Formats: sequence, structure tokens, C-alpha cells
Amino acid sequence: MNLAKFERYPLTFGPTPVEFLPRMTDALGGKVEIWAKRDDCNSGLALGGNKLRKLEYIVPDAIASNADTLVSIGGVQSNHTRMVAAVAAKLGMKCVVVQESWVPHEDAVYDRVGNIMLTRLMGADSRIVEDGFDIGIRKSWEEAIQSVRDAGGKPYGIPAGASVHKLGGLGYVGFAEEVRAQEKDLGLTFDYIIVCVVTGSTQSGMIVGFAADDRADRVIGIDASGTLDQTRAQVRQIVDNTADLVELGRAVRDGEIVILPDYAYPAYGVPSAETSEAIRFAARTEAMITDPVYEGKSMQGMIDLVKKGYFPEGARVLYAHLGGAPALNGYAYTYRNG
Ligand SMILES: Cc1ncc(COP(=O)(O)O)c(C=O)c1O
Repeated sequence: MNLAKFERYPLTFGPTPVEFLPRMTDALGGKVEIWAKRDDCNSGLALGGNKLRKLEYIVPDAIASNADTLVSIGGVQSNHTRMVAAVAAKLGMKCVVVQESWVPHEDAVYDRVGNIMLTRLMGADSRIVEDGFDIGIRKSWEEAIQSVRDAGGKPYGIPAGASVHKLGGLGYVGFAEEVRAQEKDLGLTFDYIIVCVVTGSTQSGMIVGFAADDRADRVIGIDASGTLDQTRAQVRQIVDNTADLVELGRAVRDGEIVILPDYAYPAYGVPSAETSEAIRFAARTEAMITDPVYEGKSMQGMIDLVKKGYFPEGARVLYAHLGGAPALNGYAYTYRNG
């Protein structure tokens, strides 16, 4: 496998911390060790998160294209558009982001706080549109790209979650390489990795990265999209493309792509009672802040899997914390009492 041949523009501090979570481990019965890898603390750019790992491999292509404007898309409380706005500011580029109405959630401050506020603070032209949730290539995004051209600018398009971009899967291949090095330093190995999946390139990169030491099927994707078939198909496509790029040297089997659909209810961006309980649990045991759209659902999934005995006794589980806490502000009313 060869990731090093791809140029990487540094946007993060370096390897992210891996930490043991003793109070969470105890509270879940003590039979399974719970650890976290803190990609939520990966950068000084606008609170960081998983997209920066992906964007590190995309930025060189954007610079080489001579673009002056990054154009991307997500929901109103998109972490991804916040990260694209941050990268544009850092590079001295302009930024247009389309914010679709992906979430049937009404809170008086939803479109003014958290991710979208930070996006606007960083100078991005944030355009709210009515279209609903869809992880694929969107007409509203193509129109935004054209609008930059029409105004004489040179756009560089980055799709939702940077996922179907040709280089979108590389960042999380790097995650797997980093985990292997950290395992060596710590003198242990992780038996399972828990990761939230929606647009797919985070888990896809991990699958390819961990396929190199034959443990791709230990990457347990927790779907938060609620559109499992589309997410799974997108993961399949990104896995194949990324495996090709890094010359994995073999095809990834369907059975090595594990995505559990049971925690996305009632809908993308809408926390169930169990999601909210998981958010409170992580906050109260480890002061680890998770959000109602993504990490709250993967946290909910991990807790349920531990309780159900999915992991054998003695297993070491690594929770990949991908960021996303700013969205909590959009749920101010839901969590007004904690
Ligand atoms: C905080 C957070 N967690 C998880 C995900 C899911 O990652 P992906 O879209 O690569 O599947 C995202 C983005 O969609 C995110 O912002």
C-alpha cells in the first residue's frame, strides 16, 4: 500500500491522541475496554474534525487547479461546510457553501448558531436552500459552482463530506496507519473500531487502511444517514476507488464492509431518546462531548453493542471521535436542561 506518494497539505496538529476511557469502561460493565481516538481535537482550524484529514489530500489538487473559490455543500448545521470555510480562509481563497435543509428539526436558533455561525464568521458565502437530505451529487451544488464561474471566479468543487471526490478516501487511510503506529507505541492492539458513517469516505478510508493488515471487518460503521442502501453503495464505490489509488493490491470483499443500520432512527439529524441518553452518558462519564447528528448515534451504537455482548470479553474497542460538537448549539432547546 502506498499513501505516501500523495501530496498532503498539513491542516492538522499531527497524530491525534488515543486515550483510555476508564469511567465509561466501568459504567459499561468493565468487560470491554473502551478507548477513543480524538479526531475531534485534531486542529486549530475552527474547532477541527474529520473533514480536515480528507481535505489535507484535496487541498494540493485545489491549489494546483488555480482555483480562487472553494464550493461545497451540506446541511444547515454541516460540519463539513464549516471545515471547507476554514480551509478557504486559511488558504486565502473565497468560499461558497450551499446549506440544504437536510434535517426536519425546528429550533429558533438552528440556522444562526454553531456550525453555520462559524462558517459565516470565516467569511464564507453561505446559501440556505430548501432541498432535503441526500448524500449524492446535488444540483444545488452544481448551480453554485456555475454561479462562481458566471461571476468570473474559478471554482473548485468539493462534494458533500468530501466523499465522492476522487481523493476523499485517502485521509482515513492515514488514520489506519496512524493507529498502527500508536498501537506499536502503546504495546497493544485494538480489536474493533467504531465509526459513524453518513457520506462514507471516513469509514471507506479506514476500511482500505485496515485491509492492509486484514482487519477491515473490525471497522464497525454506525449508520447515521437513515438511507443505508445509498450510504453502503457510496462506501463500496469509495473503497474501490481508494484501494486502487493506494495500490492495496487486492479487492475488498463485501463482507469486509460492516455498517449497522439500527441507530439512525428516527431520521438523519434527529436524535432519538437513546441518542440523547448516549450524549449525556459520554458527557457525564468522560466529559466527552458528542452531537445529536453523528457522534451521538455512534456512541449510542457502541453502548448498545457492548450491552448486547457483540464484543467478546476482554476486547479493546476504539471509538473514533470525528468531531461535530458545534451542532449541539442548534439543539439548544432539546438540551436546555442537560
Ligand atoms: C462529526 C461527524 N461525524 C461523522 C461524519 C460522517 O462521516 P462521513 O460523512 O465521512 O461518513 C461526519 C460527516 O458527515 C461528521 O461531521
